[in-house]
Amino acid sequence: MKVLVLGGGGREHALVWKLRQSPRVTEILACPGNAGIARQAELVTLPLDDLYGLAQFALENKVDLTVVGPEAPLVAGIVDVFSARTQYIFGPGKAQARLEGSKVYAKRLMARLNIPTASFEVFDSAPAAADYVRQASRPLVVKADGLAAGKGVHVCQDPAAAEAAIRQIMEEKVFGAAGDRVVIEECLEGQEATLMFFLDGETARPMIPSQDYKRVGDGDTGPNTGGMGCYAPVPAVSDALVQQVQREVIEPILEAFDVRGIHYRGVLYVGLMLTADGYRVLEFNIRFGDPEAQTVLPLLETDLVDVMIATMEGGLHRLQPKWRNEKTVTVVLASGGYPGEYEKGKVIEGLEDVAAVPGVTIFHAGTALEEGKVVTAGGRVLNVTATGPTHAEAAKRAYEAVGKIRFEGMQYRKDIGSRVRG
Ligand code: AMP
Ligand code: GLY
Repeated sequence: MKVLVLGGGGREHALVWKLRQSPRVTEILACPGNAGIARQAELVTLPLDDLYGLAQFALENKVDLTVVGPEAPLVAGIVDVFSARTQYIFGPGKAQARLEGSKVYAKRLMARLNIPTASFEVFDSAPAAADYVRQASRPLVVKADGLAAGKGVHVCQDPAAAEAAIRQIMEEKVFGAAGDRVVIEECLEGQEATLMFFLDGETARPMIPSQDYKRVGDGDTGPNTGGMGCYAPVPAVSDALVQQVQREVIEPILEAFDVRGIHYRGVLYVGLMLTADGYRVLEFNIRFGDPEAQTVLPLLETDLVDVMIATMEGGLHRLQPKWRNEKTVTVVLASGGYPGEYEKGKVIEGLEDVAAVPGVTIFHAGTALEEGKVVTAGGRVLNVTATGPTHAEAAKRAYEAVGKIRFEGMQYRKDIGSRVRG
């Protein structure tokens, strides 16, 4: 089987790494990939927003299965384009992808289906939104409606901060048309957790729960990032809670689509806040999380190709994915300055030494090859994932590996997994 993986971050490296383990896979192409993916796949460069160009490329190159990593092509409707030409592709269609593509749509659907979520209001005018936040006596969260590369959410402690966020999103249009509308919601408190599911339109198979570290600094300080680390499983997410989310969130969503004659087939990511009053859904993503994929896929024992095909063909009732009874910790190594401005092109040293640490896998994110050397090429550069019998052991291994890697300006959080390390 020839597989094409779209995307070039840590999530896509984990997908390529896992797909490589399948005896069914003979060849992998990655677009655009990165320096780590280049060791396991052939890199191709095509624009990810040219959906017809990608479909044509897949056809001409006899690709049997296309796997989409990032949200943008899914929201743009790549699955509909491939499917109309009977080309195999893993991910939900355009109608389903609105769950991530529009926060207004996701919130209204949750309200209609009685899915527990933060109370909210929607505004399409900046003055009306500003009037609303001026009357608030409690912290509020202001969210751009559309895709904003994870930067469209502002947690605001006071009305002045909320007004500033509204101005940025709706007047300065820093995210373009994604800021035509905003969702303003109550600020929730608690631990966050990620619960991803494989959905084949009817059957849901949960993955191992994970916990992402969103802030840049130790102790959850500083600005939000794409994710600075992750661990799995999450003791705070019990089997009973997984079943509850499946019953109260996933099943109503599958039904709501089914009524319209469409099926959700692919990965659905449910972002949870575990509050004192029970869980609330913070957001949906229509794809694997990054860095959650780097933490969760190493625990999957079943062939990922089998799971993906069952997901696409409505066969998950016959396939129960198996998970390893181990723990994983992923530490993200980022460029100095990230999530703000940072420099690229710094030589990365020590990657070979990491092979000596047991249970450790490096997933590349923002890396490139320059004159035979691996250099930094993005904000998040590397993911160091370690597996172990306990979270403490996994964390020890991950940080031992981190200690062997160097590049100018390298920064990382030292407290990944500290909540469960004991
Ligand atoms: P979202 O993209 O909607 O998940 O928001 C990104 C991040 O903002 C979440 O992972 C939370 O850390 C934070 N966040 C979003 N909504 C809320 C909320 N209602 N209360 C508190 N924090 C939130
Ligand atoms: N780690 C958060 C995300 O993938 O959106």
